[in-house]
Amino acid sequence: MQSGIPTAIEWLDGKLRILDQSKLPWEQIFVNLDNYHDVALAIKEMKVRGAPAVGVAAAYGIALGASGIETASKDEFLVQLNRVLQTFAASRPTAVNLFQAIKRMEKAARGGSIAEMKRSLINEAKRIHQEELTATKKLSQLGAEFIRDGFTVLTHCNTGPLATAGYGTALGIIKAAKEQGKKLSVFVTETRPLLQGARLTTWELKREGIPVTLITDSMAGYFMQQRKIDCVIVGADRIAANGDVANKIGTYTLAVLAKENKIPFYIAAPTSTIDLSLSSGDKIPIEERSPEEVTHIQGVPIAPEGVRAANPAFDVTPHSYITAIITEKGIIKEPYKKGLKEMGSGSS
Ligand code: MRU
Repeated sequence: MQSGIPTAIEWLDGKLRILDQSKLPWEQIFVNLDNYHDVALAIKEMKVRGAPAVGVAAAYGIALGASGIETASKDEFLVQLNRVLQTFAASRPTAVNLFQAIKRMEKAARGGSIAEMKRSLINEAKRIHQEELTATKKLSQLGAEFIRDGFTVLTHCNTGPLATAGYGTALGIIKAAKEQGKKLSVFVTETRPLLQGARLTTWELKREGIPVTLITDSMAGYFMQQRKIDCVIVGADRIAANGDVANKIGTYTLAVLAKENKIPFYIAAPTSTIDLSLSSGDKIPIEERSPEEVTHIQGVPIAPEGVRAANPAFDVTPHSYITAIITEKGIIKEPYKKGLKEMGSGSS
């Protein structure tokens, strides 16, 4: 439990225990996952979601998959492990933390006996988890300097402990500013279609005792124009080498509105979200989810039956709209290419 918010991802007695985020805020249901198929499904169905949390869950899932392989042949072990890695690679395409975790897990299984490889995979998953914890705590402390006493911050989607298996990114910065004794309040967009803002972010902020106002996505421009917002801080799912950022659908709209209204627009992310292999944001794969998530809310239809709907889960904000990218290694500003190359050197 981190400051009133139940632990969303935990390795317990050789199993992965997750808090089912699709049921929040109405029910707090913990699920014990003892095989990799269920972990991959939990990621697909967004019981675990948020870029860093998906990477951590996948790492534990791969360790579980490896533990379940029964063979005395090393070659056969590696063939089966590869199947496990491929299953996770196919779970969600946009957040790069998932692919960074897969790459690290693949490396951790190079060398030693089968028993040693199994052990080293569990240890590597724990390391990835611990690193996300440390990184999100650090970046939150660094980012808190951008929040002045009395600020109202606008945020989108969900970026707290639930989404990071750590301290949080955008929400971590907000928490750190409060811990520094600053008075602040937060406007949260509901984040259609799956309502991560309304369901999860307001839930986390209430538990942290931080004043929160929920708005629909389309109200953001109005409040910016009314000078009610001092800055916007959001997370990221993948940051390309030139500083373009993929994040939850609607982020781009907020960035354009912020620039129009001369409001600083910050991205908060651990360096595990940086993908130096992609030169720009137009190369980031955007997940297309089921149209039913748009035509229905929590299973209740909100549109005529059979109507066509589109559902891209993320969009890309060009770097020219971003005031700064806040990472655990430091603050990156224009020219993004240079700063990201230095700080993202541990990534792909
Ligand atoms: O589809 P989701 O809920 O996994 O999307 C989450 C987001 O877009 C977050 O803003 C992003 O992962 C940053 S999380 C710290």
